[in-house]
Amino acid sequence: MTRRWQTLTLVVLPLILNAMAITRYVPEGQEALFGLRPSSTDTSLTASYTGTAAYDPRTLTPPVPPTDPPVNTQFAVQLVSGDIPDLSIRHHGAFLGFSIEFSVSNHVLGRNGSTLSVPFLNLLANLQRRSGRITVRVGGNSQETAMMVPSLADGGTLEKDKAGLYNPTQTPPLVYTPEILYMMSNISTLVNVDWYLGVPFNDTTNWRLDIVQRGQQILGNRLLGFQAGNEPDLYVSHGRRNADYGSLSYKGEIASLLNTMRAQGLKTQNQLITPSVNGKWPIEEVIQTGILDEFRDEIGVLSVEKYPSDNCAAAFKTGAEVRQPQEMLPTYLTHATGVRITQQYLNATRFAQEVGKPFMMFETNSASCGGFPGVSDAFAAALWGLDYGLMMAHSNFTGALFHVGGQNVYYSPFTPPPSNQTAYRQWSVGPIYYTVLAMSEIMGRSNRSQVIDLGVNNGEQSTPGYAIYENGTPMRLALFNYLDDSSGAHDLRVSISIGGGETGQAASTPPSVRVKYLLAEHVTSKVNITWAGQTLGTNFKSDGRLRGEESIVNVPCDTTSNTCTVTVPAPGFALVFLNDKAFEDSTPSGNTLTFATTARTKTVNTATIDPKALETSNGHKGKDRVKMQSTSKGSSPNGASRLKEGLAQVVMTGLGVGFGAALFTLL
Ligand SMILES: *[C@@H]1O[C@H](CO)[C@@H](O)[C@H](O)[C@H]1NC(C)=O
Ligand SMILES: *[C@@H]1O[C@H](CO)[C@@H](O)[C@H](O)[C@H]1NC(C)=O
Ligand SMILES: *[C@@H]1O[C@H](CO)[C@@H](O)[C@H](O)[C@H]1NC(C)=O
Ligand SMILES: *[C@@H]1O[C@H](CO)[C@@H](O)[C@H](O)[C@H]1NC(C)=O
Ligand SMILES: *[C@@H]1O[C@H](CO)[C@@H](O)[C@H](O)[C@H]1NC(C)=O
Ligand SMILES: *[C@@H]1O[C@H](CO)[C@@H](O)[C@H](O)[C@H]1NC(C)=O
Ligand SMILES: *[C@@H]1O[C@H](CO)[C@@H](O)[C@H](O)[C@H]1NC(C)=O
Ligand SMILES: *[C@@H]1O[C@H](CO)[C@@H](O)[C@H](O)[C@H]1NC(C)=O
Repeated sequence: MTRRWQTLTLVVLPLILNAMAITRYVPEGQEALFGLRPSSTDTSLTASYTGTAAYDPRTLTPPVPPTDPPVNTQFAVQLVSGDIPDLSIRHHGAFLGFSIEFSVSNHVLGRNGSTLSVPFLNLLANLQRRSGRITVRVGGNSQETAMMVPSLADGGTLEKDKAGLYNPTQTPPLVYTPEILYMMSNISTLVNVDWYLGVPFNDTTNWRLDIVQRGQQILGNRLLGFQAGNEPDLYVSHGRRNADYGSLSYKGEIASLLNTMRAQGLKTQNQLITPSVNGKWPIEEVIQTGILDEFRDEIGVLSVEKYPSDNCAAAFKTGAEVRQPQEMLPTYLTHATGVRITQQYLNATRFAQEVGKPFMMFETNSASCGGFPGVSDAFAAALWGLDYGLMMAHSNFTGALFHVGGQNVYYSPFTPPPSNQTAYRQWSVGPIYYTVLAMSEIMGRSNRSQVIDLGVNNGEQSTPGYAIYENGTPMRLALFNYLDDSSGAHDLRVSISIGGGETGQAASTPPSVRVKYLLAEHVTSKVNITWAGQTLGTNFKSDGRLRGEESIVNVPCDTTSNTCTVTVPAPGFALVFLNDKAFEDSTPSGNTLTFATTARTKTVNTATIDPKALETSNGHKGKDRVKMQSTSKGSSPNGASRLKEGLAQVVMTGLGVGFGAALFTLL
């Protein structure tokens, strides 16, 4: 270990238990945190890999389905209509969203207010077309020491103080300009996204509230609120507070924050997201401080943060026993993991309903400290995330945000290329993006989706199933198969009935149902993940648009036996639409642009989005709808000539419906 590495390890040690991305503590050029010795073609996990975590090609071995006893693969699901006990509260389609670590936000959002990341716009637009809207938080650990400055010397929007990194007494601060907020605001003029921000809590005597002041001013009603402290229950263990700091001290800081906000004339009503505890303080402990009695009007959202596991021992070489990814893999291929996490919050979600506050999982992903190679970046994570998301919906959370780190984490839903490769590489989309994409269709656009964990197949943990109800009518079924067996012997055959049989209700099984699948060859697959037959492409190759023909499987039902038999491949996930309205409420639609980009080579490519490319009706494929008016070198309508050689860009002109005349370019 070099001296340089030792210094780095020493600095990050206090942070090891934090459920966070590690990006911000690693200077550029030191990204190969998980690197071993090089090897070129072997992609098994025993091979070495020195590259960046986000692009680690190594795969694990899928677990073999149990044989003694084998998992039952044929079972019935009997649905009834009407007042079903244990249905969740009503959810909207944006139940799952993203949490973007502040320190990587400049890479994700764009270069500046007029140069936005087109892949990011497309990734959000895909979701908007299904759920109607998207929720994104920009924050995380790196918000705590963030400091707003009017401008940066290099014209950038955000900078990590690398000098601070090597000074063990100092948490590395982050400086940013208000342009970050303008990017967010400008993004919201193109896609229907609302934002959460965070107040820095590193110094609660000298509050730095410019993010509140400028955030409220620039984002207006696009701003959903400010997280007041990120995992305050871990501040002591991270050396950020004295040992006597407790939940009452935290409550005192909230009081001080609100007083300061009021003194500065800032809006306080429904502005705070709190307490965002990790579990060291149970949320009940914070509630029992009386925080809600005192600040009921100011608290907009009750929040927690929880990852099911962590990879800190490997990430930071702490000396603690390293969790082996191959051994961790099965823990992500069982319903039990989502059940275990959500159970500890059932009392709190009930309380949140009583006091009429939303209850959010404000930050999560497969494992903190970067995730596990071969797990967090494989199809297993997409299935796990979807099961976990549905379990949170069933448990009356009101939303959950999957974390986006940088180049050094395995779990990001999407990753822009390293900053010096943006001219010739596109983005990389991870399995968790497919989770959020599928969830947007599971919930749809009705705002009335109520979720129930059905405990199908006698509660078998490798084949969970949920129903989504609306006004007493079963609308959709969500069926998982965590088993991995390409022979087909472990494909599930699920016989679905609505009413009839011994239910005492008239049989109302439809003549046919439509099914969309989330699929990959193996639970360990890192490529060719598809949702309804479409994919985002391989690493460095995604512009954020779905590719391929959408595939919807029509399953005829047996009206004599009143059953529809749906197959769920091993592995796979099936979303069964039980009626036309359920299908239409999830079908991609809406006046949304897809944003074309040709950022592939060092050649300047200019794509102009024709107003005709605006999507105006259901059922059309995005790829047909964007016209590339110009792709010639140097051709630059509408002021694009200002851009230098080496930039790929999108110039949007003559935008119809509500967008006005805007000019956005892509780097
Ligand atoms: C990109 O930046 C990384 C980290 O600073 C550096 O190691 C690498 O050599 C750079 N690559 C190119 C092509 O400049
Ligand atoms: C935004 O970024 C682009 C690309 O780096 C640059 O050409 C442009 O001048 C910037 N605009 C402003 C207002 O800084
Ligand atoms: C986008 O942000 C910039 C700040 O860089 C602002 O000047 C501009 O008006 C914004 N554009 C739109 C279309 O809102
Ligand atoms: C808090 O963060 C700011 C900005 O990074 C820094 O200047 C300040 O010294 C920090 N204060 C404490 C008490 O850590
Ligand atoms: C449930 O939550 C309420 C409100 O926070 C609390 O008073 C009660 O003690 C909790 N019950 C349990 C079993 O934790
Ligand atoms: C969710 O809330 C609904 C409505 O209050 C309630 O009936 C249901 O039992 C709750 N679910 C859980 C798992 O607590
Ligand atoms: C769902 O809620 C959103 C936000 O309140 C609203 O804009 C939308 O119209 C609602 N959709 C339906 C179908 O009611
Ligand atoms: C991914 O899909 C493509 C197109 O169907 C195929 O050519 C390729 O072999 C697949 N890759 C893997 C690793 O399965």
